[in-house]
Amino acid sequence: MLLVAHANPDAPGAFEGARHNLESPQMGPLSHYRALAVLAEDDAGRPVGALMGGAPLWLFEHPGIDDDVVLEELVARIGIISAVAVDPNHRGQGVGAGLIRHAIRRFTRAGYGLLTLNYKAKLESYYQGLGFSTMNELNVHLSSGRILGQTWGDTQVAARALDRYTDLASVPGLASPVVSGIVPGSRVPRNAHFDGERLRH
Ligand SMILES: CC(C)(COP(=O)(O)OP(=O)(O)OC[C@H]1O[C@@H](n2cnc3c(N)ncnc32)[C@H](O)[C@@H]1OP(=O)(O)O)[C@@H](O)C(=O)NCCC(=O)NCCS
Repeated sequence: MLLVAHANPDAPGAFEGARHNLESPQMGPLSHYRALAVLAEDDAGRPVGALMGGAPLWLFEHPGIDDDVVLEELVARIGIISAVAVDPNHRGQGVGAGLIRHAIRRFTRAGYGLLTLNYKAKLESYYQGLGFSTMNELNVHLSSGRILGQTWGDTQVAARALDRYTDLASVPGLASPVVSGIVPGSRVPRNAHFDGERLRH
């Protein structure tokens, strides 16, 4: 938890809520059910980096999800890295990249289709180098043209498709790409456009 606090030096207590995840049973699909906690250690076994992830909390509050079955499907398919931090004396040695690559493998093996994270502008090229696309808004196609859109006031969002069903599609009428194929029946047709309300094709 001391390492994780480095992920947001302006608000060191911002991740205290994640303590709760560590109390969850240590069982799949991630390290603590639907939460992931990863620690990087040096050769002597001292912790030098930490990563926390799991279910994106915004999904639980989104007014566009009014159905528990859809919520459950999305929580099983969209993961988030909520914090990653490396001890200041061990930065620039690949520890952060190693933690993120490990998280990508864990979420992929657990059947997730999309891994997301929120970042501040200066880390854009860092996450792009790790295979993430960066955007202002996360748009997820649910089915029948319905789009779930989410923005964050102070941060941008990075997303990476994890399986062959999931894709980030450019759609005329929307400035940010649309996540295609995250739940059954949600593949975005090739000729789709957004009419201001839903996808049409
Ligand atoms: C961001 C952070 C996790 C990166 O971890 P790290 O172990 O220092 O980074 P890595 O050694 O894995 O860097 C891998 C590559 O990214 C590059 N990189 C590192 N920090 C970067 C940055 N701020 N911007 C762009 N590129 C960066 C490195 O040069 C390296 O490139 P190379 O492989 O071509 O040499 C770490 O700097 C940190 O803890 N920062 C404070 C907390 C934070 O900002 N967390 C993210 C918000 S949740």
